[in-house]
Amino acid sequence: MKFQERVFSGMQPTGSLHLGNYLGAMLKWIDLQKTHECIYCVVDLHAITVWQDPAELRQAIRQVTAAYIAAGLDPEKSILFNQSQVSAHAELAWVFNCVARLGWLNRMTQFKEKAGKDRENASVGLYAYPNLMAADILAYRATHVPVGDDQKQHLELSRDIAQKFNNDFCAQIEAAGYDGGDFFPLPEPVITGPATRVMSLRDGTRKMSKSEPSEMSRINLTDDNDTIAKKVKKAKTDPEPLPADTKGLSGRPEAENLVGIFAALSGSQKADVLAEFGGRQFSEFKPALADLCVARLGPIADEARRLMDDPAEIDRILVDGADRARAIAAPILADVKDIVGFVHARP
Ligand code: TYM
Repeated sequence: MKFQERVFSGMQPTGSLHLGNYLGAMLKWIDLQKTHECIYCVVDLHAITVWQDPAELRQAIRQVTAAYIAAGLDPEKSILFNQSQVSAHAELAWVFNCVARLGWLNRMTQFKEKAGKDRENASVGLYAYPNLMAADILAYRATHVPVGDDQKQHLELSRDIAQKFNNDFCAQIEAAGYDGGDFFPLPEPVITGPATRVMSLRDGTRKMSKSEPSEMSRINLTDDNDTIAKKVKKAKTDPEPLPADTKGLSGRPEAENLVGIFAALSGSQKADVLAEFGGRQFSEFKPALADLCVARLGPIADEARRLMDDPAEIDRILVDGADRARAIAAPILADVKDIVGFVHARP
């Protein structure tokens, strides 16, 4: 069956967003608004899979929403909302808890990393996290999911869940009037561009992440201009000049990372950046990168701060987005209930 193209993606409201979130995901989100119906979520249900201070969580939901809008997501055009306001996510996630197999979840590397050695003490929610993610996407029958490289395995699981649901309930799906047993699309990851995996500024072999203790390892979307410039100038590098082509970046993770960041922020490719800076020292490249970061990120931080002065308006946007999201998810969830065999009143 041919599905209507629809984009879904989300970010966790745990601390402030950083350059990795912006380059790995949000730049594509902004672009896709031009061509697609887009649904962008602040995934607060995912956030509580590890402990969150309630007052900080509430603030972080608003802050991430402000960053979305400040970065260029248009709440009129796209649907922006927080996940917990649309119960279809949790309801469909339960059905998927019963579709997904333990063996599938046992392979998830992100659970292993996040749970660490004390696995017995991890929440059940952290373990079932990828099922909720599949529900986020499939509650809207979304076909395209723009994310960074670290979400690839979770999206493969979403496809497996969609496929197994389609197979397990094939007869009921046909009886409900869907051709060929395809109730859910197999959502496609959109992992493109020169910065699908932005690395720490302190260690080019580690991913830039909110959980890294050193603030110098990442550029936050809330950082002021001086802080941004300082972090770029202090970023770890090696002593060699930049190479003339991308082959010369292999084995030089810090150089590769900074060149990738420059390319993504300037809307070009790594090869273009090297055509300009190849043969030059980091002492010349870093100030240019710092200027670019400040020019691109500074206005986002300023606008997000301005939006945060009016939290009631942010809440209004989230309620409006949730209403629109619910309207899309409700008939899909009603079909799921029919297919699975629940007794219910259709909305
Ligand atoms: P989260 O909140 O960890 O990250 C949000 C987005 O940012 C991307 N990202 C990065 N990209 C490049 N380099 C980095 N260093 C980097 N760090 C983060 C992530 O790939 C992601 O696209 N499970 C998801 C949220 C989620 C979701 C969904 C995404 C929940 N439901 C449904 C898509 C569809 C997460 O924790 O992302």
